Order: sequence, then structure tokens, then C-alpha cells
Amino acid sequence: MDKMINETRKKFSFGWAKFAAKEVGRDWYKDSFSYLNYIPRWVYSGEGKIGLDVGCGSGTDMMHISQYGARMVGIDISDSIAITRRNTKCSGCIHVTQANVYELPFRDDVFDFAYSFGVLHHLPEPEKAFRSVCNKVKKGGYVIVYLYEDFAERTALERYLLKTVNSLRVITTKMPAWLLHLLCILMSPLVFIFCCVPYQVFKRIPLTKKLAERIPFRHTTRLDCIVSDLYDRFSPPIEMRYNKEEARAWFERAGFGDINVVNYRGWVAWGKKR
Ligand SMILES: C[S@@+](CC[C@H](N)C(=O)[O-])C[C@H]1O[C@@H](n2cnc3c(N)ncnc32)[C@H](O)[C@@H]1O
Repeated sequence: MDKMINETRKKFSFGWAKFAAKEVGRDWYKDSFSYLNYIPRWVYSGEGKIGLDVGCGSGTDMMHISQYGARMVGIDISDSIAITRRNTKCSGCIHVTQANVYELPFRDDVFDFAYSFGVLHHLPEPEKAFRSVCNKVKKGGYVIVYLYEDFAERTALERYLLKTVNSLRVITTKMPAWLLHLLCILMSPLVFIFCCVPYQVFKRIPLTKKLAERIPFRHTTRLDCIVSDLYDRFSPPIEMRYNKEEARAWFERAGFGDINVVNYRGWVAWGKKR
């Protein structure tokens, strides 16, 4: 397990060294901002609240969420955590530290809410990591996660495409990070032409509007954002995927109530600690 965690740390450390400053500095629209459209605002907002971002990456989500009043603490295993600290310094209400989700350096039951966007499915024991996050939240507080979906509810064609694309990961996850990064740069114009442009066209035509919403990489037209997303998709050694019931079951087994699971390019799930 330690070996996999270490491999994952190295891949993300390289990625954030390339993308973290850009992501915040250039006011990059993060797909994770869209998750919040589904979650009631009071779950993560309010003066006096303290929130925890597990696997905070560049710090963009903490910057976004802290606008609603909460003070934030972010942890990430990445060695590029100093960039995240620099990124978030100006806000004055965000604290960042390097830590492993399995060994969170906080007392239990201290946070009003915690979230982990796009992190747990990259870990060797995702549900154990989820429990580790839950432990840090007060009774009555909320935990929010974003997990990749297994496409069980999608069409056969989409499942086939996912399988085909995923088969590339056998090679890409073993590549040196710099080489994969270079490949992502080279591939980004193709993704732009075959995904971003069709989305921009199809979403304007009533007949193809629905189809447009199924196109990957539709959330951006920026090449640097596409490069980062490609690297994020093809570099982590582990990638797990879940169906809706599995996402819900994590919360049920942890004894949570008020459980919600919605589909937004994966599962946005949240629940209340009892
Ligand atoms: C796909 S990124 C998501 C980052 C951020 N939450 C976002 O949505 O932009 C996954 C993040 O999880 C972090 N991570 C991976 N394994 C971790 C672990 N064992 N403990 C803490 N963070 C970890 C990575 O360093 C990386 O920043």
C-alpha cells in the first residue's frame, strides 16, 4: 500500500508543480465548482465554520468555498504543497499542510464539514480513507465526496469508449511523468477539436443539446486546462470507479444520515454525520 501511495504522491507532485500556480493565477474554471450547484449552500457556508479539504491540490476549491464564510484547512500528500500555500496565502483564512489522508494530523470531531473531490478513487483503500475523513467531522457536520462513475448507467457505446480509453492507462501510468506531460501537451489540440468544439456547436442546436452534455472535456476550451485534465486522467497509478449504490453505501456503512448522491460526470455525494 505504501508503495502505491508513494507512486501516487510522485505523479501528483509533478502535476501540481506544472499546473497549481496556473490553475489559481489564471482564474481557471474548475469542474468541481459545478458540484456545489447540487449541494445546499448551508452545508459548506457560514461564518465561524471550519472546513477540511482532503487532497486540496492547487487550493482552488478552498479559495472558492471560503468565499461563503468558512475558514478552511487543506491537506495534500503532494510535495508541491508549498505552491498551494502560496496560492492561498492572500485569503488569510486558509491553512495548508502536507499530509496523508490515512494519517490526518487532527483530533477527531473538529471540523464542521469536510470534502474530498476526485481523490479517494485514486487510493489503495478508498473506503478506509473515507472513514478517516469522516472521523474528523463533528456530529451533525457534513462530508462531501466526488467519485468517478463506472458508467453502469450509460450507453454500451460510452462503456466501450471508457474501456478503450482506460486501456491506455496500462501504459501511461508507467511512463515517466515528464514524458506523459509532453504527450498531454501534444494531445490537447486533438481533444479541443474532437470534444470542445463539437460541444460548443451541439449545445446551441436544440436537437443535439442532450448529446452535447455527454461529451467529455466539455467544461473548458482552454488548452492548458485540457493538458492538466489529461495528465490527471492518465497519470495516477490507481483509478477506481463506482455505481450510485456503492457511493451511497459508503455513507450508510459509516452511519450517516441525510445521504444524497447526484450524477455530475461522476458521483457528487454528501451526508450528515450522526
Ligand atoms: C485529482 S487530484 C484532485 C485535487 C483537488 N481536490 C481538485 O479537485 O482539484 C487528487 C489529489 O489527491 C492528492 N492525494 C493523493 N493521494 C493522497 C493521499 N494519500 N493523501 C492525501 N492526498 C492525496 C493528490 O496529491 C492530488 O492533489
